[in-house]
Amino acid sequence: MGRKKIALVGGGQIGGILALLCAQKQLGNAIVFDIPEKEGFVQGKALDIMEMRPSFGGDIDLAGSGDFSKMAGSDVVIVTAGLPRKPGMSRDDLLNVNIKIISDVAEAVKKYCPKAFCIILTNPLDAMVYVFKKLTGFPKNQVVGMAGVLDTNRFKAFVSMELGVSVQDISALVLGGHGPTMVPLVRLATVGGVPLIELLPADKLEAISKRTAEAGTEIVKLLGNGSAFFSPAAAAIDMAESYLLDKKRVLACAALLEGEYGINGYYIGVPVIIGAGGVEKVLEVSLTAEEKAALANTLEAVKKTVAETKL
Ligand code: APR
Repeated sequence: MGRKKIALVGGGQIGGILALLCAQKQLGNAIVFDIPEKEGFVQGKALDIMEMRPSFGGDIDLAGSGDFSKMAGSDVVIVTAGLPRKPGMSRDDLLNVNIKIISDVAEAVKKYCPKAFCIILTNPLDAMVYVFKKLTGFPKNQVVGMAGVLDTNRFKAFVSMELGVSVQDISALVLGGHGPTMVPLVRLATVGGVPLIELLPADKLEAISKRTAEAGTEIVKLLGNGSAFFSPAAAAIDMAESYLLDKKRVLACAALLEGEYGINGYYIGVPVIIGAGGVEKVLEVSLTAEEKAALANTLEAVKKTVAETKL
């Protein structure tokens, strides 16, 4: 069996880290795609990573291209093409520009690698993954949005910082849209099997949930020009790896719901199993009345953005 092929569409901040992680984890040969005007830029990034391979002993190949036809035969496509936020912008402010870009990418993926497992990162996430699915017409198990893994990782990071314990032992789940209405399920979080609610007082838990929901904005403000890129890339690679290695990890992802959680026809963050079949299953968890209300609220936010796509 030859190496797997990964198409990284968008060779900016996140795209570069994705390429690095593909190489370090030996996931497969990766091509970084960008607009033709930036072909040299992505070729430079790919070559730079090729030249660092002796340091970690990797052999996979990386290349950069402005020619989408080179996507042919890709097993996985990870899409970050599109504008990131600047300070003062919400993810929804990106909609009009990014919808056009996602449409172009969807057309190319449909044409050149119609069997690829597609992971979308471009914001506003829940609407962009919806658009990509609509325009490709791919089955729902083949198109997923990266948001929940990142939101959950942020929650876990803040818990570990607060408690001074290893992130490895923290288990948590953040549901909902990728925006300020997301729903960290604090009630279900555990630290080495111990319920988190027994380890921290309510005000601290509230502060961690709030910081999680605003974590992307916190980084946008600090960076001053662009949005988070290391952690989104790492989260997408967890998803790609689970697919390529059929790991069947349970990860929070934006998945198309058809009745689960009482939601129909929208992409929203829920726990799913990712394996060789793509999004193999959506796991449903019973929610309290308060959590249900929070999920209804985040769904409204997603619906509003999706309505603006007019698709
Ligand atoms: N095809 C391919 N690449 C494109 C296209 C297109 N049609 N349009 C734009 N791009 C490229 C840009 O040229 C740029 O190199 O997408 C890249 C985006 O990179 P950055 O601007 O550095 O943005 P990044 O931080 O990587 O975020 C990308 O992911 O998390 C989201 O909100 C974020 O929507 C943003 C996306």
